[in-house]
Amino acid sequence: MNITIIGTGYVGLTSGTCFAEVGHTVTCVDNNPEKIETLLNGEIPIFEPGLAELVQQNVAAGRLKFTTSTEEGVANGDVVFIAVPTPPQPDGSVDLSFIEKVAREIAQCLTPEMGYRVIVDKSTVPVKTGEKVAQTVRRYAQEGVEFGVVSNPEFLREGCAVDDLLNPDRIVIGSNDDQALAMMQKLYEPFVAPVLVTDINSAELIKHAANSFLALKISYINAVANICEAAGADVEKVAEGIGTDKRIGRAFLNAGLGYGGSCFPKDIKAFIAISESIGQPFDLLKEVERINADQLTRFLDKIREKLWVFRDKKIALWGLAFKQNTDDVRESVALKLAQAMLDEGATIVATDPQAIGTAQRFGNLSGDISYTEDMYEALDNADALVIATEWPVFATADLKEVAKRLRTPLVFDGRNLLDPEDTQAAKLEYEAIGRSVS
Ligand code: UDX
Repeated sequence: MNITIIGTGYVGLTSGTCFAEVGHTVTCVDNNPEKIETLLNGEIPIFEPGLAELVQQNVAAGRLKFTTSTEEGVANGDVVFIAVPTPPQPDGSVDLSFIEKVAREIAQCLTPEMGYRVIVDKSTVPVKTGEKVAQTVRRYAQEGVEFGVVSNPEFLREGCAVDDLLNPDRIVIGSNDDQALAMMQKLYEPFVAPVLVTDINSAELIKHAANSFLALKISYINAVANICEAAGADVEKVAEGIGTDKRIGRAFLNAGLGYGGSCFPKDIKAFIAISESIGQPFDLLKEVERINADQLTRFLDKIREKLWVFRDKKIALWGLAFKQNTDDVRESVALKLAQAMLDEGATIVATDPQAIGTAQRFGNLSGDISYTEDMYEALDNADALVIATEWPVFATADLKEVAKRLRTPLVFDGRNLLDPEDTQAAKLEYEAIGRSVS
């Protein structure tokens, strides 16, 4: 099928590329000419394992095109995806102005001669956005234009986006229009995943409800971790004990500094705002947010307890990205932690396998911070090692080398990556989250 994706951000670029990979002909549109230029040169503007190769292969095969022209995109696509940002507003509600603008632009490019077109919301949007998109397209399109609107939320995780897209747990397609649903089912035929067909409002709700539930799991285990600490128990054992119950599952029960990134913080805030706007306040999610924010404060207290003061202390910081396998530092707890320590006068030498560049460009950190690619070099003469991101390379660190390089053998593990027994064997003083067993 011929499809068009408007917006080549994370979701748009990876979805477009994966649709091309399974055999569709895809036109990706973005109004940023530099981005399109970069993509036409075979480079990708983000770090995502496996994506650059797929983009190059599909461009070479003639299945993937890039343009700045919405008109060209709409003319090429029987199915037109909207994958533009839906940033938060100061009150937590979603700014839908990009969606509205693209809906108008699509409407102005549609003609009755093109025949029936499907317009799909891929961006994470509040329930009832599809209804507004349909209303807007109808208002701005010529008489006689035929179209249907679909919600098709994306559940990809950064760092494993290609695999999540090619082998999803499920595909959700929501519409109140049968012709649109039939075209979407055809589009997803090459995928083996189960397809869940719903009305449009349910599909929109599934995305916010899924992300909020995952965030709730994280805050739940973090609250349990704090109880473990007070009671002298090990949250890793507790997570295993409850996670082996199939009804609960072990995934997303990793205690730590809490969730960050471009999705969870924004989506939980949005769901709270949506629930309030329709008169069904979802206060449980406020508690999820409170626990998440407290994790950082508690961890800082823990470091302060040992170091006493940060001023004149050198901290080796392992991790800047909001999670492993990404260079993304948006809403990164690691950066919030870094800034808090800098504000109290610490000197930081930070490292991250991918995110040093993005942290320098977008992190806005102010204070005495420098960066090194070498995670061991960061330790030289430091008063403590602080681990803030769950990169596997940190979990397999040579602890003898860590102990040798640090000025004082203190390790604060904000992601429970290290084995407490190994740290003991390496003569490191070890503090983690919810593991106070002596
Ligand atoms: C998330 C959803 O997983 C994905 O389905 C949705 O489409 C977009 O939002 P992403 O933001 O890429 O994906 O990251 P994810 O892997 O979900 O991690 C989010 C945050 O939670 C990270 O900061 C991570 O460190 C944290 N996390 C995750 C934990 O603290 N503990 C866990 O057990 C899991």
